[in-house]
Amino acid sequence: MTIIAPSVLSLDYSKLNEQMNEVNSSGAKWLHFDVMDGHFVPNLTFGPDILKGYKKVTDLYLDAHLMVTDPTFFSDVFIDAGADHITFHYEVFDHGEEIKALAKHIHERGKTVGLSIKPKTPVSVLKDFLEDFDLFLIMSVEPGFGGQAFIEESINRIRELRKMLDEKGLQTHIQVDGGINAETGTRVKEAGADVLVAGSYIFKNDIHETVKSLL
Ligand code: DX5
Ligand code: ZN
Repeated sequence: MTIIAPSVLSLDYSKLNEQMNEVNSSGAKWLHFDVMDGHFVPNLTFGPDILKGYKKVTDLYLDAHLMVTDPTFFSDVFIDAGADHITFHYEVFDHGEEIKALAKHIHERGKTVGLSIKPKTPVSVLKDFLEDFDLFLIMSVEPGFGGQAFIEESINRIRELRKMLDEKGLQTHIQVDGGINAETGTRVKEAGADVLVAGSYIFKNDIHETVKSLL
């Protein structure tokens, strides 16, 4: 079953209620929330109060994608604000033990947890963490901005990761984020992804139609 996670990075804030009403009735199950700190990526987005505001207008599963250099600090901040799921980046840590410790902490707080890699980070780095996470996020653009073109190599990366998980008998989610539309969506699903993030494709077009096209 494919899960669609509209990314509110591309939501039109002058139409927040209207667009959220459409998202809520679209068949999307998760809401993707891109947290950027201006250090890990050259852009700034939302703090925890904005997530609290979304929580009042939706029952969707709140998926916080932390593009920050200090996810240990910010995961608690966003869990306190109401996030259901936290994904943080592999690249910000020097030691695997720190990655495992943060995953464990997020689980102890009763939330699901994901580990993300940027397009240039080899998929093989994930092999030490396969059993520690509920989800792996393969970035299919350089993190930081919506509306970029899908990086083709992501298809092979998703296949490689799905094979690694299958070999261990794991049904862990593979999420893909960046440049997803009806065409790339079909191909990433075929490669083994089951959680599709889409920002500009959904919010700059008919929300019901685009979500349906990705399911
Ligand atoms: C990019 C973010 C994405 C972004 C995707 O750094 O992580 O979630 O919203 O936007 P689109 O779907 O427009 O590529
Ligand atoms: Zn994202």
